[in-house]
Amino acid sequence: MNIAIFASGRGTNFSALIKAREHKIFKANLSLLISDNPGAGAIIRAKKAKIPVTVVERGNFKNKEEFEKEICSQLSKYKIDLIVLAGFMCILSANFVKRYEGKIINIHPALLPAFKGGHAIKDAFDYGAKVTGVTVHFVDQETDHGPIILQEAVEVKEKDTLEVLEEKIHKVEHRVYPKAIRLFVEGKLKVKGRKVGILS
Ligand code: GAR
Repeated sequence: MNIAIFASGRGTNFSALIKAREHKIFKANLSLLISDNPGAGAIIRAKKAKIPVTVVERGNFKNKEEFEKEICSQLSKYKIDLIVLAGFMCILSANFVKRYEGKIINIHPALLPAFKGGHAIKDAFDYGAKVTGVTVHFVDQETDHGPIILQEAVEVKEKDTLEVLEEKIHKVEHRVYPKAIRLFVEGKLKVKGRKVGILS
């Protein structure tokens, strides 16, 4: 199975996936990194791991359709079976999601449906939530919405600063994402409507 990672930022989840694959936590190829940001830390991590990189900048295309057309052609070129979003900050169109239905997964740093959006850790912290967490889910046509694969709670302690909470959440992400990918790669996820059954 060939996996493409989509990342816009630092790429710590991407690094965790590279490590997990090295430790054979899942058996699939990390075949391609796609980034919409030429300054993304994830690009340096990919180069170190000798994973091909494609930078596709939204601003270089006249519309989203053309932008996604280029992404699709890269996915075909590398014969990608699974798209793993790891801090990809572009919203994919309904058409794109439909084309790869059931083959795109995302990690979100909160317990969905709470704290959707791009600043979920800070939003939960500022809200005074006592529990937040991590969600891995299939991507559907609504943002931060598709069927949930795995979730894990993270307690917000009174003494936690935002930085401490961020660290706690990332630590959980780096453990949970490889686990979810393993389940997908091993064909253990059965999606029925919003429910994702996990075969043992
Ligand atoms: C991660 O915390 C991920 O959950 C979040 O972006 C961060 C990327 O960090 N994604 C979202 O907020 C998506 N709505 P990383 O670049 O270090 O992996």
